[in-house]
Amino acid sequence: MIELAEETAHDWWEVEALYDLCFAPGRTALSSYRLRDGVDPVAKLCFTARDNDGILAGVIRNWPVHVGDRLAILLGPVAVHPTRQGEGVGGILMRKVLNRAHDLGWSRVMLVGDYPYYKRFGFFPLKGVLMPPPTNPDRVLGYDLAPGAWVGVHGDVTQAPDCNPGGRPHLNDHGPEHADAQSR
Ligand SMILES: CC(C)(COP(=O)(O)OP(=O)(O)OC[C@H]1O[C@@H](n2cnc3c(N)ncnc32)[C@H](O)[C@@H]1OP(=O)(O)O)[C@@H](O)C(=O)NCCC(=O)NCCS
Repeated sequence: MIELAEETAHDWWEVEALYDLCFAPGRTALSSYRLRDGVDPVAKLCFTARDNDGILAGVIRNWPVHVGDRLAILLGPVAVHPTRQGEGVGGILMRKVLNRAHDLGWSRVMLVGDYPYYKRFGFFPLKGVLMPPPTNPDRVLGYDLAPGAWVGVHGDVTQAPDCNPGGRPHLNDHGPEHADAQSR
């Protein structure tokens, strides 16, 4: 049994460790991280997936971005512990985020990833949506939360301002001793 919960400040470093395990610590050199630098994740779209014993099985975080002058969710990173992969945890996290983002009124989602995995959720290749280099354009994928949400949306993907109502979310308050060590 897997239980999803919104990520809290208490989870932060455990989540970071799982990302390091799944992607290797060099993950923050990826171009998508330049869109996350200094921007808070959307707190209501960040989830942990834990098993009955409270062991962290998977995680997902999401950031706001601009595509041209339009707002979108940059989905991910999503990661599932190597011992729990293939059990559906990734799918549970993906569907939770897509449903929650729809309920929160977001229109469109994008990500950089493997089309063979993400097409099962309804993602499709985006044309003319330009991630910071180096990014393989074939890996830039989109998802409509509203009909036709990606029609006519193209241009550079750039940072968007904080989208959390009320300012910085508690998610990002990990304590002063770690304030300079965050690697998002
Ligand atoms: C990708 C990831 C999140 C999937 O999570 P998961 O819980 O293992 O996925 P699910 O159990 O929901 O789905 C498993 C299915 O996805 C497929 N799959 C997993 N990764 C895939 C990939 N990169 N490309 C194509 N298919 C993939 C599996 O073969 C399996 O297929 P099946 O249903 O036909 O048997 C997980 O494998 C992971 O953390 N990988 C390392 C980090 C990573 O690559 N994250 C994604 C960044 S783009």
